[in-house]
Amino acid sequence: MKIIGTGSAHPRLTITNDMLAAFLDTNDEWITTRTGIKQRQIISDERLKDLAIDAAKQAIKKGGIDVHDIDYIICSNVVNEYVTPSLSCIIHDGIDANCPCVDINAACSGFLYGLQIAHSFQRAGVARNILIVCAEEPTRMVDWKDRSTCVLFGDAAGAVLITEGDCMKSMRVTNMSKTDVLYEERKLEPTPYLRRNEDNVPLQMKGQEVFKTAVKASVKDIAHVVEEAGLQIDDIDHFLLHQANLRIIEAVSHLLKQDMSKFPHNVELYGNTSSASIPVLLNEMNMRGELKDGDKIVLSAFGAGFTTGACVIEWHSNQK
Ligand code: COA
Repeated sequence: MKIIGTGSAHPRLTITNDMLAAFLDTNDEWITTRTGIKQRQIISDERLKDLAIDAAKQAIKKGGIDVHDIDYIICSNVVNEYVTPSLSCIIHDGIDANCPCVDINAACSGFLYGLQIAHSFQRAGVARNILIVCAEEPTRMVDWKDRSTCVLFGDAAGAVLITEGDCMKSMRVTNMSKTDVLYEERKLEPTPYLRRNEDNVPLQMKGQEVFKTAVKASVKDIAHVVEEAGLQIDDIDHFLLHQANLRIIEAVSHLLKQDMSKFPHNVELYGNTSSASIPVLLNEMNMRGELKDGDKIVLSAFGAGFTTGACVIEWHSNQK
């Protein structure tokens, strides 16, 4: 496995904390202190599929391969306006691909799950060049009268193109049965036979429990994958964590005894963009030339389920 292209896309509308305070009982100081978030970009007149296609095209262009040489598309998505076809089918159409495609939902850990599936496909000889697109609109999941959730999220798409290579050094994904700490329920079409009442339940979150579970799981996952890669924590150049909350990132940095300068972050600009957050950050660092050949990078994510995932990759720019 080797990442040869990255891409990202955001909606145009930027909403600052002060703009939220105009209609919610909240303020910039509360949001900044508790989360580090200063602003987020939110879908208004765009559609998520167009952000996904944009990010995918950037990754393919940087990867320098013909779209018809992509063997598989994996899309990580929690919600979007289509129930069917899958978002990966819509991306397939938008980039004019001719390969199989599938959606996965591992919540905010979706990029790590997607990487593991892609890596396994490569090892099994199913596919060589694989496009992973993480496209998310969590701002459509929350109740915009609920200040404890709606201030946290933003919408985005991030993509990577991978080919065969020796850059995946270790990987682990997990799930613990904690389905009640973070969930949303949606109402389906009624039938004449349905014998229960259904309702939409916007995103519900036990914030403090999510916080503690995320920190503990991330530290455990990182220690595991670093050891499995035959490395020491100090050998890692960059820790790219799911961008949910700056305090979670700071807590993990503290517990691993690693300087915050090794933990790049952009949660202050975009809020929590679910599974898109790590590929978006990876693309920004790639674009800024902050990733050097041979750099050891940890990716670590956590989300509803409670799913988690981490891996160690060695960065090598577009040499096939
Ligand atoms: N503005 C102002 N006050 C707010 C607020 C907001 N946006 N949201 C909640 N509050 C209030 C609460 O009502 C509560 O008031 P009370 O003491 O009068 O009851 C107070 O702030 C403290 O709430 P609490 O939930 O205890 O705050 P917290 O310090 O735990 O911070 C989170 C809340 C959500 C920021 C924090 O728990 C968190 O980041 N959790 C992880 C969330 C996450 O990462 N989710 C995604 C995982 S993929």
